[in-house]
Amino acid sequence: MSSSTVITNIATLVTNDPSLGDNSPLGLIQDAAVVIEDDRIAWTGESSKAPATDNRVDAGGRAVLPGFVDSHAHLVFAGDRTQEFNARMSGRSYTAGGIRTTVAATRAASDEELERNLTHYLAEALRQGTTTFETKSGYGLTVEDEARALRIAARHTDEVTYLGAHIVSPDFAGDPAAYVALVTGEMLDACAPYARWIDVFCEKGAFDGDQARTILTAGRARGLTPRIHANQLSYGPGVQLAVELDAASADHCTHLTDADVDALANSRTVATLLPGAEFSTRAEWPDARRLLDAGVTVALSTDCNPGSSFTSSVPFCVALAVRDMRMTPDEAVWSATAGGAAALRRDDIGRLTPGTYADLLLLDAPSHVHLAYRPGVPLVSGVWRKGVRVAG
Ligand code: NIG
Ligand code: FE
Repeated sequence: MSSSTVITNIATLVTNDPSLGDNSPLGLIQDAAVVIEDDRIAWTGESSKAPATDNRVDAGGRAVLPGFVDSHAHLVFAGDRTQEFNARMSGRSYTAGGIRTTVAATRAASDEELERNLTHYLAEALRQGTTTFETKSGYGLTVEDEARALRIAARHTDEVTYLGAHIVSPDFAGDPAAYVALVTGEMLDACAPYARWIDVFCEKGAFDGDQARTILTAGRARGLTPRIHANQLSYGPGVQLAVELDAASADHCTHLTDADVDALANSRTVATLLPGAEFSTRAEWPDARRLLDAGVTVALSTDCNPGSSFTSSVPFCVALAVRDMRMTPDEAVWSATAGGAAALRRDDIGRLTPGTYADLLLLDAPSHVHLAYRPGVPLVSGVWRKGVRVAG
């Protein structure tokens, strides 16, 4: 039997559908209501015009937004890197080498421990409003360990990414070409059935442009769509390669030339910015303003991982993006919802418009602006996923 719920008395509703609201990208409706039917949005509009339904929820003059879409996270891992973080906060700089510490801990962990960790961080993210998340392998780096990470991840999300090319496995230290052959051969065979995406860390100390092209092209031939860790620690070929391969997303984008920005602006590749990483590595911020002014589609995500960005909080990333990356609150909220959906090439999430999934959150504040205005305050006070209230 189908069930319907109306949420009324919403001070500000963010629909991300300009045609529904005030013609801005956020499609704002004041004094609004939302009708949920089963797992989907059935209606949005002014409260006074809301149709009658079985159940009624009074939002009490608070704001309702689409659930956050965290399109970049690394949640299948064991152990932590507190010591490395401490050393960094005493002046040491971040390098890709720290990944090896997590690889050792992850290989040593049981399946149960990995799944327990994953569900712990997912619950944490959900309480903070994340209703869709992507997660990657990349801390196994053997055929068996990469495949089990993806098998575990696929039990919890459809957005699973094969990142066998996170770094060259320590077992192949003297022979990166042999590791690339494994990643594009036996490891790809074992991992492709669980994944939708393929990713490479294209960076000094990880994989160069030619290696990244070989890996992503092999993945694409197996039906996986590319996304790339690009231009995080230094200038490099990652962003241009992302555009060349029509990758869904180029992630990090911290060091960009004008040609990189132009290439993104003339493509459908989304630039996914991950300010938690710059915060936790004390690095220079990506210039969101420059990308937005050039017309690039920007997503905001957490990059949650134990090395460079151990936060599961999209609201924290929104606040950083506004304060330090020169985004407006409206832009940051769009990027953390509709932008994340674009980075995952999804049009059934990230918006509250008839037919999309009823993934939404209630803020303990009259508008979405408070996410940046009141940093660090746990404002998310209710979360619905596919029409079911799952938090708050
Ligand atoms: O996105 N850049 C590469 N991968 C992660 C860091 C992983 C780690 O340090 O464990 C990132 O920042
Ligand atoms: Fe990452």
